[in-house]
Amino acid sequence: MIYTFKLSGENLNLSKFEVETLFKTKCTRRGKIATCNLTQSPKKLKEIAERSALIKKIYKNNVKVWEFKQGRYKLREPTARPAFHPTGMKPKMARMLVNLTGAKKEILDPFCGIGATLIEAGVLGLKVSGSDYDPRMLDRTKTNLKYYKIKPKKIFKADATKLSEHLRKNSLEAITCDPPYGQSSTTSDKNLRNLFRSFMNEAHKVLKKKGRLVIIIPSKLKIPGLIPKEFKRLGKFDWYVHGGLTRQIVVLEK
Ligand SMILES: C[S@@+](CC[C@H](N)C(=O)[O-])C[C@H]1O[C@@H](n2cnc3c(N)ncnc32)[C@H](O)[C@@H]1O
Repeated sequence: MIYTFKLSGENLNLSKFEVETLFKTKCTRRGKIATCNLTQSPKKLKEIAERSALIKKIYKNNVKVWEFKQGRYKLREPTARPAFHPTGMKPKMARMLVNLTGAKKEILDPFCGIGATLIEAGVLGLKVSGSDYDPRMLDRTKTNLKYYKIKPKKIFKADATKLSEHLRKNSLEAITCDPPYGQSSTTSDKNLRNLFRSFMNEAHKVLKKKGRLVIIIPSKLKIPGLIPKEFKRLGKFDWYVHGGLTRQIVVLEK
């Protein structure tokens, strides 16, 4: 059955990729409209659409069959969460990262901060684990997860560049994260590059075959030579935040 999707406009190829990941299909895109041949029942289609971050409307034969609800993230916006930090991610972006992993059961965020991705993954019913090297951030994550009644599988202190000391190899279905951008004067671009490289090597060790890493890489870090060759790159999408900051959202598969 042919359906057309009206996509959110931050990056239209990214929105199309989210649709393709959620509905496990390939679509064609013209401007803000993606066209897909779907096999799911109408009920299942709506269920999947409710999970999405970047679908605005769905039509069948030019009749609207689904539309996103305005204000659906209101209760989980950064200022609504009990524990706040300026680096805390907005729920729409966190939801999108989780969706791009294609996770069915569980997910890890090894730079979890205040837990934005874990909140969205928990709301979707996934088992969530988070780590960070800053214990104050871990406390914030725990406070936030408790507030939203999400019971994590594991919250632990770890340097993400040594992840395989904490987790079994080939054990994880999905990882997503938003590592630091290195805007503080103490973090040089070279150190930041090393942090990303070392972390991605570790992520490759602990992921299962076909497991995905969805990572935000600041645009000042050039991608060639950064991503371990062992990963297959499924996509790279730019998300403009403001004048000084564009995020590169990179989807990798083991
Ligand atoms: C940009 S923030 C993450 C924000 C998070 N997505 C959220 O919404 O709260 C980056 C996080 O990485 C953590 N971090 C920095 N270097 C780390 C490392 N080597 N290992 C683990 N965590 C690290 C910081 O403590 C910080 O919480």
